[in-house]
Amino acid sequence: MLDPTASTDVFRVRGGNALHGTVTLSGAKNSALKLMAASLLTAEPVELTSVPAIADVPVMADVLTGLGVQVELDLEEGRCRLQATSPSAHAPADAVSRIRASIACLGPLAGRLGRARLALPGGDRIGARAIDMHLRGLEAMGAQVVASDEEVTVQAPSGRLNGARITLDFPSVGATENLLMAGVLADGETVIDNAAREPEIQDLARMLIAMGARVHGIGSPTLEIDGVHQLRGVRWRTCPDRIEAGTYAMAAAVTGGDLVISNVRPGELTLPLMKLRAAGVVIDEHEDALRVRADGLTAVDVVTLPYPGFPTDLQPQMMVLLSQAVGDARCTENVFESRFSFVDELRRMGAEIEITGHHAVIYGPTRLHGTTLSGLDVRAGAAGVMAGLVAEGETIVRDVHHIDRGYAHLVPRLRSLGADIERLGAAVTDA
Ligand code: UD1
Repeated sequence: MLDPTASTDVFRVRGGNALHGTVTLSGAKNSALKLMAASLLTAEPVELTSVPAIADVPVMADVLTGLGVQVELDLEEGRCRLQATSPSAHAPADAVSRIRASIACLGPLAGRLGRARLALPGGDRIGARAIDMHLRGLEAMGAQVVASDEEVTVQAPSGRLNGARITLDFPSVGATENLLMAGVLADGETVIDNAAREPEIQDLARMLIAMGARVHGIGSPTLEIDGVHQLRGVRWRTCPDRIEAGTYAMAAAVTGGDLVISNVRPGELTLPLMKLRAAGVVIDEHEDALRVRADGLTAVDVVTLPYPGFPTDLQPQMMVLLSQAVGDARCTENVFESRFSFVDELRRMGAEIEITGHHAVIYGPTRLHGTTLSGLDVRAGAAGVMAGLVAEGETIVRDVHHIDRGYAHLVPRLRSLGADIERLGAAVTDA
């Protein structure tokens, strides 16, 4: 069901239906994958719940199995038990190169074993996605780092990393997580300045504390970590997926629907909700739920930035919404350099969008018409589905293995909310 190589599957969407009803969402992709990697830091079991049923999770499980971790995964129940009794420092390349999040194993391996050797990862095609900040941080902690095009080797000559003061050039999510996980078992204090503050990093830091780590400054741009000698096992519930929640909220708004979304922390969506309200969407916030209604949209400007800024992972979906809003909207992408690739697909459906560098102007509203399109990363794929929900006629979304990497049960969930969507192809299981 979740084989990421099932690339022949397509989604067929017939537009025109508003989304109505209630949907309960999953644990966060970008948290679960890192919580799984953190199991490398202890010999005791790590038991995760609310693990999302997405394709990246079994791939990450394969990466960890390749490192000698015992992994029991029950995707239907959202449970994963991991035990890294004596992990190896070197993972086979095949699984590692299929998932960018596998780089999150580097920090914990370096922290636990003082060495690591990993193939360089694949994942979404949205820019250069260098790992220079991860590697410079590990060097500052005393490791020798050798990186080629294919793999990276990290070795602490004394067998243990040393605490260090590290200032990141940019608040990179991946670098912050790797250096945090490296720091918890290093000798002495590590300070990460200009750290990323995404809720998924906060989730990871809190789980590490529950394992016995000493971390201060969670949610702030400065993380202070006092290294300890060992960590214990933990049971941990993955935080909700704010990007999935934002995607459903935008899909409800753009179709003129009325949707209750539960398992959400509205406080982690402050800026996206503010922008949706400014666009005319009515949103009721509850402790762990949102109700989203819309009937007509007006243009708003959006600028993507690290958290708490507007998330780059909601930018393609927001562009679809803005294509249906009255007026001209400016959208600036500051996080990934080639994240406007989806715009060509949206233009082929009738959207009027001008791009200059990392700025886009969306002239709305435009009538979208169905076509065949590809979403070449997980969020572009979701945006393609959203565009299909409002387009006239039939839209075929190809390359849905990207969508499967990040959205659990998307087709049955959307169908239960009234959408006309089905999955077609060799591996038809979800429709
Ligand atoms: C994570 C998320 C991804 C999200 C992104 C930004 C996961 C699995 N993925 O990706 O969904 O879109 O955060 O919120 O959690 N960069 C460098 N050098 C580095 C590290 C990053 O130049 O050493 C650049 C990247 O090329 C990119 C930008 O910094 O342009 C942001 O990257 P980063 O924040 O690290 O994102 P990821 O951790 O890859």
